[in-house]
Amino acid sequence: MSFCKNLGLRLVSLLLFLIVAGCSEEKAGPNKGDKSRGDDAPARVCKGGSVVIEDLWLTPGPVEGTSGGYATVRIESGESDSLLAVACDIAERVELHEMQSENGETVMQKITTPLYLSKSDPIVLEPGGKHIMLIDLKKELQIGKNIDLSFRWSSGERTTCPGVVSNAPPEKYLRGSEIYISYCAACHGQAGEGQGNIYPPLAGSDFFADKEKTISAIVNGLHGEITVNGKKYNGIMNKLPSIYDNQEAAEVINFTLQQFADSLWQTTKEVVARIRD
Ligand code: HEC
Repeated sequence: MSFCKNLGLRLVSLLLFLIVAGCSEEKAGPNKGDKSRGDDAPARVCKGGSVVIEDLWLTPGPVEGTSGGYATVRIESGESDSLLAVACDIAERVELHEMQSENGETVMQKITTPLYLSKSDPIVLEPGGKHIMLIDLKKELQIGKNIDLSFRWSSGERTTCPGVVSNAPPEKYLRGSEIYISYCAACHGQAGEGQGNIYPPLAGSDFFADKEKTISAIVNGLHGEITVNGKKYNGIMNKLPSIYDNQEAAEVINFTLQQFADSLWQTTKEVVARIRD
């Protein structure tokens, strides 16, 4: 069984999401009251059988460590179902857990009964609430990777969906990923692989070691000879178009660092404002 193939394609789920988002207008996505995400921002959706799984994400974890899994699960057709178990072959065990407070202390408890799902009652798996625990990881879960999880239902159905490994809910990077795809990817590639001798790679780039220089290059442009991962480039990158404000600049930079440098650092619109010419 290979539910849990590590696709290793950092942008696959993102692209799938953008495609899904582009063609399913009836699916407005849930408003979770998260201000970083507009009411009309579509969720990252995966369908299987009569169930829809939105915004599935997993926290990073080392070999033999653990990872938490989060998502919102809805039923589309049929009245109700119950979640019996979640499987993923990258972990020795997968359990459902719940944080509960007992005498003022928060304790984590294993959920042993099926989780009920109905039209009016989605299953919300979230940090601090009910969630999936991947225990005793067989491989390191690295940020940006996609891991398949398989949900088994009492109706006999299974829903297998990719979860993205991230330090934060994927919607945090939604705007940044859109700007990356519509602007940066034309030169640096959708997986940050670069192009030939002209466009340097972003995936694993050692240029990111210098935070100020990186932010300045992206917002103010860059020209002249540079060396990226031992290879010389001598091209021109124009400054970031002014249609992107400082907040958007920070978001695309943060997305880039999260995707291609395992979140080596992050920035804010204030820092961008200081560096932007
Ligand atoms: C029109 C093509 C083009 C676009 C669009 C573009 N870049 Fe670049 N980028 C370049 C070129 C060419 C260089 C190398 C410049 C040099 O040789 O001095 C570069 C260099 C870089 C570098 C430093 C070198 C490296 O590989 O780490 C970073 C970081 C970078 N770009 C990020 C971005 C980001 C993020 C975006 C989108 C906001 C973006 N670029 C959009 C062409 C582009």
